[in-house]
Amino acid sequence: MLVVESLSRSFGSLKAVDEIGFQVKPGEIYGLLGPNGAGKTTTISCVCGLLRPDRGTIELDGVALESDPIAFKRRLGVVPQETALYGDLSARENLHFWGGLAGLTGGALRDRTTAVLEAVGLTERAGDAVRKYSGGMKRRLNLAIGMIHEPKLLLLDEPTVGIDIQARLNILDVVREVVRAGTIVLYTTHYLEEAQELCDRIGIMDHGRILAEGSLTELKRMVGEGEILTLKGRFEPGELQSIVAEDEHVRVVSLEEGQAVLDVGKGQGEVTGVLGRILRKGLAVDDISIQQPNLQGVFLKLTGRELRD
Ligand SMILES: Nc1ncnc2c1ncn2[C@@H]1O[C@H](COP(=O)(O)OP(=O)(O)O)[C@@H](O)[C@H]1O
Ligand SMILES: [Mg+2]
Repeated sequence: MLVVESLSRSFGSLKAVDEIGFQVKPGEIYGLLGPNGAGKTTTISCVCGLLRPDRGTIELDGVALESDPIAFKRRLGVVPQETALYGDLSARENLHFWGGLAGLTGGALRDRTTAVLEAVGLTERAGDAVRKYSGGMKRRLNLAIGMIHEPKLLLLDEPTVGIDIQARLNILDVVREVVRAGTIVLYTTHYLEEAQELCDRIGIMDHGRILAEGSLTELKRMVGEGEILTLKGRFEPGELQSIVAEDEHVRVVSLEEGQAVLDVGKGQGEVTGVLGRILRKGLAVDDISIQQPNLQGVFLKLTGRELRD
């Protein structure tokens, strides 16, 4: 089990990661979901020992990273946001190099190289220089490198950004396969769909903090099943506030000049009644959108902002 407690890391006065904690069991994919700048990479960098936290602890199966960094790192595989590949070497040579660094030698190194090349679908291109690879192929090779030594803990930092759908699906499949073997997976993404489809539990991260965590069902229950009504127009916060103040079906998520996000009702359908009451009061609304309480809705309710794919 991976246990992270009270992890904090600042850059100057900026709290990139601010007192976060989470646990991931073997055979579980934990997703950190958040926009750019949320603190996902900083978290990953701390967990892989690349960056020293200001405070907090990181433990893998009861062993603290701090107490034995070398043993810790040997049990961990990292798939970084930026690819770390030698362009003049082939995929096979890259894997031999990184696998060797991870402590593999001889037949074991050869067998694992063959196995991971197969897993990520690069067997046929294994002899080509990596500089000729597409972005998606490089990402897949990066994943192969991260898992060549069969780590207990696999860290993936936005492994599917900027690649085609085929490579993306392949990566998600490989991660599912790896976790089936009992690996602990920590996965960061800013793609809602990916978090929703892939992760067993999700921590919603923003401004260095985990705002809420749980399975998708738990998260939805936590923020309520109500739909989200977003209104844009020419109105003052006070005008809307006075209209909805008496309405027991409405919770104001965020409110500023010309824009309001409301959490409405307990189930589907109540939103039309509320909208009708608001419009009958003559509020100058130009744009209306209604959002189901899916993960996008959960994020919106927690932060007052949308997380766009
Ligand atoms: N080495 C650094 N020096 C200064 N600021 C940094 C550094 N790394 C990250 N940050 C800042 O910390 C915050 C979190 O960054 P990061 O962890 O990369 O977020 P994410 O991966 O979620 O996009 C951002 O505001 C970023 O600009
Ligand atoms: Mg990042």
